[in-house]
Amino acid sequence: MYDIIIKKRNEGSLSKEEVEFFVDSFTKGEIPDYQAAAFLMAAFIRGMDHKETLFLTQAMRGTGENLDLSSISGPKVDKHSTGGVGDGTSLILAPLIASFGVVVPMISGRGLAHTGGTLDKLEAIPNFRVGLTKEEFFSQLKKIGVAMIGQTEKIAPADKKIYALRDVTATVDSIPLITASILSKKLAEGCDGLVLDVKTGDGAFMQEKKNAVKLAKTMVEIGKRSNKKMVALVTNMAQPLGAKIGNALEISQAIEILQGKESQGTKDIIELVDFLGGWMLFLAGVAKNHKEGKEKVSLARKNGQGFAKFKEMVSLQGGDPKVCEDPSSILPQPKKTKEILSPWKGRVYSLNARLVGTASLLLGAGRNKQEDSIDPSAGIFLHKKIGDSVEKGEALAEFYYNSDNNLDAATKTFFAGIKISKLKPKPFKLVYEVIR
Ligand code: URA
Repeated sequence: MYDIIIKKRNEGSLSKEEVEFFVDSFTKGEIPDYQAAAFLMAAFIRGMDHKETLFLTQAMRGTGENLDLSSISGPKVDKHSTGGVGDGTSLILAPLIASFGVVVPMISGRGLAHTGGTLDKLEAIPNFRVGLTKEEFFSQLKKIGVAMIGQTEKIAPADKKIYALRDVTATVDSIPLITASILSKKLAEGCDGLVLDVKTGDGAFMQEKKNAVKLAKTMVEIGKRSNKKMVALVTNMAQPLGAKIGNALEISQAIEILQGKESQGTKDIIELVDFLGGWMLFLAGVAKNHKEGKEKVSLARKNGQGFAKFKEMVSLQGGDPKVCEDPSSILPQPKKTKEILSPWKGRVYSLNARLVGTASLLLGAGRNKQEDSIDPSAGIFLHKKIGDSVEKGEALAEFYYNSDNNLDAATKTFFAGIKISKLKPKPFKLVYEVIR
């Protein structure tokens, strides 16, 4: 390990054997944390070329099981987002795309800090099980083409250990390390194609666009070298997506969208669903190009085809399907709500996703540490987004919460994140780049 650290420190390019040695031995507990930490910092500072990144991805993937979905007929496609605020697109896309006969074996994560996680959102539906066994996962995919579950211990266990060390050694935001972390897990799912949504802007962890583009290009390259069909979008996370932030809130919004409704503040999330879904259908071979894919997704969103699939999924995974007809009677509701009124007249000039996400976390919707619990009923319902006009005294948002403990802090954080101005903001660009 000492020789490998020196080689990386001196900017050498590591061989497959060297990368495998580090990953396998560290995962087995044969390399101490101090050497692994030194290696990660050397890799962070010196970088890794595409060949090394591919070796790292493959070695990490190889520490666990790879799902073999060949017994399930149909094309298999998934999507992954690098994390954002109000990003409930997976909840809508997985059933929508499965309604075209495409298999969507979605393995998702939990929220952390200001960002939300698909698993937490699904668990807002009482009794919804994200911890299916492998047999249940396969059987559900065969039956209805979609299942949404959590990461199992068996998929890329190296990532859990390496990520924990990166988290405390300031080596998280490294493009090759992120690429290997995300793709080692996603490629092990056994999909034929993957659509990546790489976020940039205040609410994303790649805040600078040029870094997000570099990450997207690296992930597409490594995925293609692993024989997967890949597309990555670089999208704007400078303001929250949709109108609702929080777990039960985002489920109720997903249901509305799957019912074909387009309520205030949801234009951007709907646009992103259609855009991402168009690429998923193209990769699956269901659409001959992106334009046709987008049109098909948009239609399935409006005609109830995706909604029917969502209902089937909820019911097979133990949730009460009545949530689809009458969400507020099934989803947890907060004891308190409070309208946040505008002290000024003007237009919303900016709405910082990180700060609005943090305000929602303070109300109970998120967690600071992985082991913290969350309040599924808490969150923020945005009444105004960038470009909207607002009168003095009109509601900018509504807070959903159960305890007053952090109400002042959440209010201050929300106001720190919103700018109201007489000036008209620049039009908000949602999709910056498509990388294939
Ligand atoms: N998400 C991951 O799974 N890994 C990273 O390194 C960053 C985000």
